[in-house]
Formats: sequence, structure tokens, C-alpha cells
Amino acid sequence: MVDRFAQTVLERCDQLAPCSEVPGQITRTFLRDPMREVHRLVRGWMEQAGMQVRLDAVGNLIGTYPAATPDAPKLMIGSHLDTVPDAGRYDGPLGVLLGIALVERLAGRRLGFALEVVGFSEEEGVRFKVPFLGSRALAGSFDPELLELTDERGVSVAQAIRAYGLEPAEIPHAAVQGNYLGYLEFHIEQGPVLEAERLPLGLVEAIVGQNRLELEFTGKAAHAGTTPMPLRRDALAGAAQFVTDVEYLARQTPGLVATVGQMAVEPGAGNVIPGLVRLSLDVRHAQDEVRLDALERLRNIAQRIAQERGLAVAFTPKLEQPAVPMDGHLQSLLAAAMRDRGYSPYKLQSGAGHDAMILAGRMPSAMLFLRSPGGISHNPQEAVLPEDVEAALEVGLRFLERLDSSLGGK
Ligand code: HGY
Ligand code: MN
Ligand code: MN
Repeated sequence: MVDRFAQTVLERCDQLAPCSEVPGQITRTFLRDPMREVHRLVRGWMEQAGMQVRLDAVGNLIGTYPAATPDAPKLMIGSHLDTVPDAGRYDGPLGVLLGIALVERLAGRRLGFALEVVGFSEEEGVRFKVPFLGSRALAGSFDPELLELTDERGVSVAQAIRAYGLEPAEIPHAAVQGNYLGYLEFHIEQGPVLEAERLPLGLVEAIVGQNRLELEFTGKAAHAGTTPMPLRRDALAGAAQFVTDVEYLARQTPGLVATVGQMAVEPGAGNVIPGLVRLSLDVRHAQDEVRLDALERLRNIAQRIAQERGLAVAFTPKLEQPAVPMDGHLQSLLAAAMRDRGYSPYKLQSGAGHDAMILAGRMPSAMLFLRSPGGISHNPQEAVLPEDVEAALEVGLRFLERLDSSLGGK
């Protein structure tokens, strides 16, 4: 049986799970109604832990636990509260709830720095196809053009923010001010490495870079019965050829991952040759030059397919995010805290993107991974071991103590 703090973190992940747009699964996207219950519950837990809580203009929920002195620097601990469709219950919320649990573990003890626990409003980028809206606002890198993005119902980011009762004009004021020692994010690994190494925790040394795009293949809708094969301009056949070429290129390029996760076919009738296909493309690699070279190759492949098949192809970039190294000093403090508590400071890359890669543009950032049983995530079978949650809390508390004494705390 793990200690009550770890148990509470797990119970709270369970309590947030039913907050969903789709009964029976976990789907929680940017500022849609289920976020209201999430914010009510998480706000309550933050206040119970002695934090002052506010909701910023883009829907980040921020709890502040004061330092021993009023003008002290701050340490931010956070992760996201939104999810992918049919998600697991730990990707995001676990990092927010571990932050709250650390404040509870302090039991009123004040440090040489304040703690700010943040539940980011939009990390996955599901509703508007662009991720990190919440962390960009906090990091001061929110591009106002993002307010004009529209979702599948034509609702803009600005309208979604107002519908939630917030004011887009306030977003510039959401950018953090003052002296931050850094940002720490606890997150499940979402991959197989720690489990294969039989380790509960891992120290993230870098987050791989990623591109997200939308492609549109345009052909000519026509009758499925009367149009001879040589005369067709079949957008779906072209898109399907592209999808298999994407997979082939990624399999041939060490360390590259490339995914087509979404595809929409129009007009979408069985007896009509598809005239239009929209698909997503997600390309990632630890080295930016390899990722960008692969992206160029995929563009050329798409254009060649289009030419051969009498199609048009258009590309709409959604995200261009370089790889981000985690901060060396925070990593060394985390590694020391891991060793102090008997855990190997095993270092690994993050194939998943995280809010930490955005905060790193504003303050030193670090991540601590928890093992993902079965290496599975973005899936309801996503799991975490209770003893690993307890280990993360032990190391997190030790990290706070080491950071405090590095500032001259007791
Ligand atoms: O897609 C990702 O990298 C993360 O889950 N947002
Ligand atoms: Mn995540
Ligand atoms: Mn995710």
C-alpha cells in the first residue's frame, strides 16, 4: 500500500476521468463544458492545500503557495488538463495533481521560493489543431492570430474563450512576470523505455522537435459506376498512397516517427469517387535537421503523387516546434534528488511534446517521467504504478529541499 499522498493523487485522477465530452470515455478539449467541473475540483484541492487560486484569460488554472518571504522567486510545477479523444486518465492531470500533492506534503512549511501549480488549458491541440495554447500564453509567446483559428463547428478560439466567461483581450496579461527559478513537469513517459529498463522514474534530457501539418488532396468527384479507372482523379487513392509512403520513409529513417492520424474524405459516399481528402501529418525527430529533411522529402512525395494522378495538393502548417533540451542545472538537482532517494537518474528523450518545451522559452525547464506500464498512452489503457507515483513524490520533495538549500534555505 502506498502512502496517502500518492493514493490521493490516483484517486483524484479517477475523479477527473468522468469529466468528458463523451460519456464512457475521456475526451476533454479546450474550454469545452467538462473543463468547468475539472476546474471546480482542482481549484478545491488547490485551496484545500493552502493555495491562492486564479483562472487566467486562456483557461490555465494557477494555484500559488507562498514562500517564506514575500519577494521570493517562484518555481512552477504543472502539466495539462485537456486530453486527446478517448484518452487515458494520467496524461496531463497526473503532473498537476503531483504538484498539489507536493504542496500538501510540505504541510505548511515555507520555502525560499513560492510554488505555482498550473493546470494548462490546451496542450494537445485537438479542438483547434494547434497545441500549447495555454502554455504559450503563460510563457508570453501567444500569437494573437491564434484567436482566429476555428474548430469543426466554426467557433473561433476567441469565441470559445468568451463562451467560457473569459476575456481574450486579457491574454497578454497572462504572461508570467517576475523571477522564476524554473518549471518542473511530472509526466508519464507514454513509451516503453522505463518499463524495459525496469525503472520507476526517468530524467528527461530533451524533448524531440515536431511538425504538424494538414494536407489537402483535391481530385474530381465522379460516378463510381460510369468512370473508367484511367479517367479518374481519385483523391483518396492518392492520399492512401501518400500514407503508406509516410510510413515507409519513417521506417527507413532511424529515430524518425511520422503519423497520419486524421483523414476526412469528401463527399464521402460509397458510390462517389472521392474528390477531396484532408489529412493530418505529424513528423518528429530528436535532431531538427533530420526532421526538416524528412518533411521536405514528404512534401516532394506528396507533390509527385499529385502530379502522377492529376490531383492538386496543398499544405497547411499547424506547428513547427524545434527540439528543446531540458535545463542542465535543474536536471542535476533532479538527478541528485533521485540518487538521494535511491533511484537511478536514468536519462531519456521525450518523443511526446509537453508544455515544458514552451515554458523553456521563458524559464529553465525540467521533466521527470514516470514509467508507463505497457508503454501505452493516448489510449484508455494508459496506466501508472502507485509505487511509482510515491517515488515521484519522494524525489519531488527532495528536489524542493535541494533547490531550497541551494538558495541558502535551511
Ligand atoms: O502529442 C504529443 O506529443 C503530446 O501528447 N501532446
Ligand atoms: Mn501530455
Ligand atoms: Mn498527450
